[in-house]
Amino acid sequence: MNVLLTGGAGYVGSHAAKMLLAAGHTTWVYDNLSYGHRQAVPEDRFIEGDLMDGARLAAAFRDYKIEAVMHFAAFAYVGESVTDPGKYYQNNVVGTLSLLDSMRATGVEKIVFSSTCATYGVPEVVPITEAEKQAPINPYGYTKLVIERAMADYAAAYGLGYAALRYFNASGAAADGSIGEDHQPETHLIPLVLDVALGKRDEIKIFGDDYDTPDGTCIRDYIHVDDLATAHIAALEKIKSGEGLLLNLGTGEGASVLEVINACRKVTGKEIPARVVERRAGDPDRLVADASLARKTLDWQPKHVGIKPIVESAWAWHRDHPEGFGK
Ligand code: UFG
Repeated sequence: MNVLLTGGAGYVGSHAAKMLLAAGHTTWVYDNLSYGHRQAVPEDRFIEGDLMDGARLAAAFRDYKIEAVMHFAAFAYVGESVTDPGKYYQNNVVGTLSLLDSMRATGVEKIVFSSTCATYGVPEVVPITEAEKQAPINPYGYTKLVIERAMADYAAAYGLGYAALRYFNASGAAADGSIGEDHQPETHLIPLVLDVALGKRDEIKIFGDDYDTPDGTCIRDYIHVDDLATAHIAALEKIKSGEGLLLNLGTGEGASVLEVINACRKVTGKEIPARVVERRAGDPDRLVADASLARKTLDWQPKHVGIKPIVESAWAWHRDHPEGFGK
């Protein structure tokens, strides 16, 4: 298939692009490099462009006979979305509507969309199924929910075929060590802990140890970025015109902040000083997926289950790329 990936120079997008190319799909990355890394994408697959530039998007769709889009381009800092919601609604909502309208104008009918477990807010039932009420607790989650709704309406009215994949915690790095996680600024737990192992930071701060969990620290469902990538390819093949697939992508296993830090200590052989500080606003106690619907619908299985193999792959990349992709 001829596939265009918006945000394909970012963390999840670049791993999906690599996997699509390996699977023999004609793959194009469309990215404005506001956060993405030019070096994360093969030279001859890259188009520099902005989501708001509908003419450029439409030209890319026509020139490369694009049949489907994977849409990764979005801002994803939950805290920043609270202090600067305009930035998030502009890019994540207005930008995505620009994309959907360029797709309509050029007859591109399929999209796989990066949604998030943040659309559930604080879930009533964990593990979380797709039947859980979607009630985001921050603007980031709302921007993703708005687009899920828009895609449902576009499917009903215009025949769009879509998949909204609700990621839990994306983590890890490509098996061959060529690409990995490099956010500027970095806020995610695993890369921060590995920075401490590398001596780039003095300690890891644990945001609260009085949560309602066995060790008091928050539990998350860490899913390997390559497992996210294979789910995207499977979803692409299952999408039907006028219909939507709404699927959680997680492993179904949770790890606490302390368990993640201990796994990093074991894998790196480093001491990794940690200190408990105040809770971070807006962190639910436990976010773990019931991903049985994705397993069944996509005939898909995450290959990396348990926190250790995920940390091992993240460490392989971090150790060899202490400065990430560099400046
Ligand atoms: N944490 C720490 N110390 C740190 C960083 C994180 O204790 O220095 C804790 C957090 O409080 C949380 C856990 O580690 O309990 C994981 O935090 P991350 O920031 O790595 O990930 P989140 O679960 O907050 O966020 C992820 C995605 C978001 C998405 C969200 C859905 O990064 O894009 O899941 O809830 F919105």
